[in-house]
Amino acid sequence: MKFSSKVEKCGLSPMRKFHPYAVAAKARGVNIYHLNIGQPDVQTPPAFFEAVRHFEQPVLAYAPSPGIPELIDAIQNYYDKLDMHFDKSEIYVTVGGSEALQIALQCILDDGDEILIPEPFYPNYNTMTRTCGASIRPIPTCPEEGYRYAEREKIESLINEHTRAIMVTNPGNPTGVVLSHEEMEMLVDVAQKHDLFLIGDEAYREFVYSGEKLHHRHRHGLQALFRLRRAYRLPDLQE
Ligand SMILES: Cc1ncc(COP(=O)(O)O)c(C=O)c1O
Repeated sequence: MKFSSKVEKCGLSPMRKFHPYAVAAKARGVNIYHLNIGQPDVQTPPAFFEAVRHFEQPVLAYAPSPGIPELIDAIQNYYDKLDMHFDKSEIYVTVGGSEALQIALQCILDDGDEILIPEPFYPNYNTMTRTCGASIRPIPTCPEEGYRYAEREKIESLINEHTRAIMVTNPGNPTGVVLSHEEMEMLVDVAQKHDLFLIGDEAYREFVYSGEKLHHRHRHGLQALFRLRRAYRLPDLQE
């Protein structure tokens, strides 16, 4: 039996490659600090477990297809407080950030297409892109420049006829880079000029440690993906 050429090109996720080494080192008594996977280490809100304990419906049925109204309201309120105003019909609940990203990429990318992503990047972007038949064109960054990547010339020099989108991981994983207002505006401008999608992965939007303000744009093809999982320490319950 044959696997698809798309999946053959994916290779094993570096995070998974790492796992057996960590297990073997632990067995040798080495103390391991897991920097490869973002395991929550902050307490999950007790209200979550309370709600699970008191869930008493006899059948766990499918949710309504536009999403559970209370959840959609809560998401809308969350963004309203950030001065980002979404219509309910613009909010789409998925099983985690990965599903949201995979759906977004599948809607955008065709065979042979390219997406610009600052490197180093979250390794699963590679699998998500490859399974669409597309590939990542990395935007190079370096520690000497604080891993900043949002420079017009740098980005425009990487755009070609295959480019369909730019991925903005803000704050960045693994670099922690937070885009300034000017950088965000420049990216929106470049995306509009070249007719590209700008995908905003805000998985870590609640984790800005140095006081920078997180800037948003949610029009002109910029898509905000935010995860309950990371923000509220709920690894198995994801939006
Ligand atoms: C930048 C980034 N985006 C997306 C994801 C995937 O999110 P989820 O675990 O909710 O599927 C992760 C997971 O670590 C991530 O680091």
